[in-house]
Amino acid sequence: MSTITLISGANQGIGFATASVLAKVHNHHVIIGSRSEEAGAQAAALVRAEGGSVSSIQLDLTSDASIEAAVKNIEREHGLIDVLINNAGILIDGKNPDQSTRDLFTETFATNVIGTTLMTEAFLPLLRKSSNPNLIFVSSRMGSLHQATVKDTMFYAIDYKAYDSSKAAVNILALNYARILEDVGAKVNVVCPQLVKTNLTGWTDYGITPEMGAERIVELAILKKEDTISRTFSDRDGPIAW
Ligand SMILES: NC(=O)c1ccc[n+]([C@@H]2O[C@H](COP(=O)([O-])OP(=O)(O)OC[C@H]3O[C@@H](n4cnc5c(N)ncnc54)[C@H](OP(=O)(O)O)[C@@H]3O)[C@@H](O)[C@H]2O)c1
Repeated sequence: MSTITLISGANQGIGFATASVLAKVHNHHVIIGSRSEEAGAQAAALVRAEGGSVSSIQLDLTSDASIEAAVKNIEREHGLIDVLINNAGILIDGKNPDQSTRDLFTETFATNVIGTTLMTEAFLPLLRKSSNPNLIFVSSRMGSLHQATVKDTMFYAIDYKAYDSSKAAVNILALNYARILEDVGAKVNVVCPQLVKTNLTGWTDYGITPEMGAERIVELAILKKEDTISRTFSDRDGPIAW
């Protein structure tokens, strides 16, 4: 039976690259979560055309109804999930100069923290049914408290305080889920994809490709039952200080 993997925000960027590699190279059945049903279906068609086993599901982290419908749908179709990759996220600091700080934080946290929490919570019963439950949070070194004290990094001077604090919250959230899922021996890990050329970064020239950004996520998503890697924060070059 194939490994059933659900990825939020997988219609583009790092989520799509992860879906593509897991389906085509590692024989996972990947469920592409996408807030646009059409974009999800198009992304799934691309992977399917290259031989991967995929489906797509409408999934908007800011909508309880969307999350609930996705759980029901996947439960009916597959009965469980083995790997849950919380990838969807936004970075909107500085994008709209007219936006108030309250609105900036509310919007950022609604997706990155509250949405990620509610989605994880809703899928826990299906994840618990797996014989090798694996939960991955796509965070960022921008959420590392340690990194925020290191003045000679390229990000030190950039004011992304809403994004940074949302990712710091994601990190502690992940460690909470590591505790919550201890009874079923779940692996729970946090990944930084590094600076990646995607919509989120305005396809920055300094970024690596989405496929490179997906590397560490894929390594963690294919861990076997006997592997003991859990409660880690890392990127493709190694561990990151919390
Ligand atoms: N790119 C980087 O350099 C970088 C670095 C560190 C961490 N990350 C993290 O990596 C993850 C993926 O980012 P990316 O760079 O691949 O960005 P991206 O290309 O913009 O993709 C983000 C994905 O999240 C989805 N999304 C946004 N809000 C959502 C919501 N409310 N409900 C469901 N899906 C939602 C987007 O959907 P739509 O297509 O509908 O917009 C899109 O599919 C994020 O968590 C990001 O913080 C990225």
